[in-house]
Amino acid sequence: MGKFSISSIESPLIYSRPLSKCISQDVFLKLENVQPTNSFKIRGMSRVCKQKAEEGFKGFVTFSGGNAGIALAYAANEMGMQCHIILPSFVSPRVMGRMAEDGYSSIVGEIKSQLEGKIPSCIILSVGGGGMLMGLTKGFEKHGWETVPILAMETEGAHSFNKSIKAGAVVENVMTSIAKTLGAPSVAPKLMEILPKFDIISNVQSDAAAVEACLRFSDDHAFCVEPACGVSLSAVYQGILHEIFTSNGHELGQGPVVVLVCGGCDSSVKILKDYAEKLGIDIV
Ligand SMILES: Cc1ncc(COP(=O)(O)O)c(C=O)c1O
Repeated sequence: MGKFSISSIESPLIYSRPLSKCISQDVFLKLENVQPTNSFKIRGMSRVCKQKAEEGFKGFVTFSGGNAGIALAYAANEMGMQCHIILPSFVSPRVMGRMAEDGYSSIVGEIKSQLEGKIPSCIILSVGGGGMLMGLTKGFEKHGWETVPILAMETEGAHSFNKSIKAGAVVENVMTSIAKTLGAPSVAPKLMEILPKFDIISNVQSDAAAVEACLRFSDDHAFCVEPACGVSLSAVYQGILHEIFTSNGHELGQGPVVVLVCGGCDSSVKILKDYAEKLGIDIV
């Protein structure tokens, strides 16, 4: 491994027969859960570490013990740099967020070449603080995909983006959802500024819908993902994608639907079983 090698991988884009059946339309999964740290966060953090190492920094401090913290620790370690993780988690410094977005934008170029010329009818992703969404829009600008609809999913109680869209300004949210990694107190103000340039639909689903989607996904594709990721899958699993589009004055096109499987470390059979019990979901 080179000194400043990038530790994120080009993740696979796979066709999902079970999810395609749910909406009678091709669904592809961008498997960010198979990144070395099991979430998309490594893309941004690798970039932060690489850039800062080149500027002469010797180590990092982060306030996130979630997927971002794990990704930063991994990337720093791979480069032989020090990393201190301070708990509990707070929003990471703005400058790091910016660089992280650049890292996330690479997802779009990969999807574009993996789809071999097909234009998606929509890309579905989850929103916490909005870093991944902003990264995606940067990628859209780079690849001329500004008109491709983005479906931004949140769980009820972590829906600061949805609240902000409705209010037309950044609104603080009190976190009550089990999808902990979506629990940013508010979205990044810059996200609200770029909204008019893109076709972004916001939708909120319950914790139960997110957990049910995680369980079905583990049955269908043998992966355990966090409810933060499950909420994106839930739009397809519940067969409500067309309905979400029409209720927002849109029509879902014929092209493939791409779900960004953002992953997350904080998931296992036991964790999902406990959520299911708590939320009264039958495991069949
Ligand atoms: C697994 C997972 N999904 C989604 C998100 C939300 O990403 P963002 O805060 O960039 O909107 C996070 C954030 O930590 C996450 O860890």
